[in-house]
Amino acid sequence: MAKKKPVLNVALVGYSFMGRAHSNAWNQAEKYFDLPYTINRQVIIGRNQAACQDAADNWGWANTASSLEQALEKYDIDVVDITVPNVAHAEITMQALKAGKHVFCEKPLGMNSAECKKVTTAAEKAGVHVGVWHNYRRAPAAGLAYELIAEGRIGEVRQIRAVYLQDWLSDSSAPASGWRLNKAICGSGSHGDLGAHLIDTCRYLTGLEFDEVSGMTKTFTEVRPNESGKGKVKIDVDDATCFLARMSNGAIATFEATRTAPGHKNYNVIEINGTKGSIIWNFERMNELQFFTFDDIPHAQGFRTIMCMDGGNHPYAGQYWPDGHIIGYEHTFINTLADFLVDMKKRKALSPSFHDGWANQEVLDAVLKSADSRKWVSVKRVMAPRKLKASKRKAKAASTIA
Ligand SMILES: NC(=O)c1ccc[n+]([C@@H]2O[C@H](COP(=O)([O-])OP(=O)(O)OC[C@H]3O[C@@H](n4cnc5c(N)ncnc54)[C@H](O)[C@@H]3O)[C@@H](O)[C@H]2O)c1
Repeated sequence: MAKKKPVLNVALVGYSFMGRAHSNAWNQAEKYFDLPYTINRQVIIGRNQAACQDAADNWGWANTASSLEQALEKYDIDVVDITVPNVAHAEITMQALKAGKHVFCEKPLGMNSAECKKVTTAAEKAGVHVGVWHNYRRAPAAGLAYELIAEGRIGEVRQIRAVYLQDWLSDSSAPASGWRLNKAICGSGSHGDLGAHLIDTCRYLTGLEFDEVSGMTKTFTEVRPNESGKGKVKIDVDDATCFLARMSNGAIATFEATRTAPGHKNYNVIEINGTKGSIIWNFERMNELQFFTFDDIPHAQGFRTIMCMDGGNHPYAGQYWPDGHIIGYEHTFINTLADFLVDMKKRKALSPSFHDGWANQEVLDAVLKSADSRKWVSVKRVMAPRKLKASKRKAKAASTIA
């Protein structure tokens, strides 16, 4: 008879975009992964009771509550999952940590490095399991990029080129809708919203840390119509941010995040050039990886496109469908959650940890400081550069070219 698994009671704070993505992951993870827990979707928390109840009914949450405080009083909770706007991350995390709960927080970990340091220190003291939802790490193609770099296939990393382009603020008459255009709630615009992902993907794939940065920000539309239709709003966050970085191994890097690039919806792309080869990963083609190596025979050299859904060869691919049957955005959250839970049982820190979230924020803050001062700014080191670990998985067949 199968061994009974302990029940894990989950509280989810927020029910909108990320609330839906995470609800789906809490629903699906057990169906695709052999997890060490039985998941109980105990309570979903939101301020609008009717909308919260709709979300509970749709995603199978047993209860609703209007605040974490209320939920902690009424229900058994083991893990608090946070999907509310940035300004509430640190406060809700501290509340959960004080109650001794495990915490899985959306990015960015806080509004600034001081907040990130505070929650990281508190989590260490509490001795609970924590992590940050940087889901893009868990696309199979991003996992393969990590492995190729770890195996030394592109050699020593020399240059990194990362862009995250959207276009929903291109139109200057678009209203100042939601919290993403309000500095007091989001901290920064395209920079924290999109640039935070680029920084995480870069740190994850290369193991490198940021030494110093030089950045600039731009707000193209400084006044927008109010969401209500009445009056105008002064915009206090960046539409676009670009920065240069010097990395811990001497590599150089460029980053660009914008919400004003017409035609681009969610163009989240990283290219890494090494001494022997290159990789390019584009989220909008998330199941594919572009790989070039000088080790290929000279007359067949060129970028190859690898379909990263071969279960025997690519991370996570074997959890889903037969080879080549692709997955989507939502699966990156399922994969992330599965790793969080497996690591929790093993008492192993999830990567990205709160330290990673804090290190990420140090880069974000340094770029803004640089943009303000128009000078290069050193990035405070939170973590040492890491040596990437090559996978122990056995390849199914040798490459026909290399
Ligand atoms: N990992 C990713 O790819 C990704 C993508 C989008 C957003 N995010 C992050 O997820 C977080 C949420 O973003 P979103 O797009 O889901 O936003 P959203 O506006 O769609 O949803 C936010 C939800 O939080 C609720 N809320 C706001 N303040 C609250 C509070 N104090 N207490 C309880 N509920 C509150 C709102 O009512 C809403 O339900 C942000 O921090 C964002 O940076 C991450």
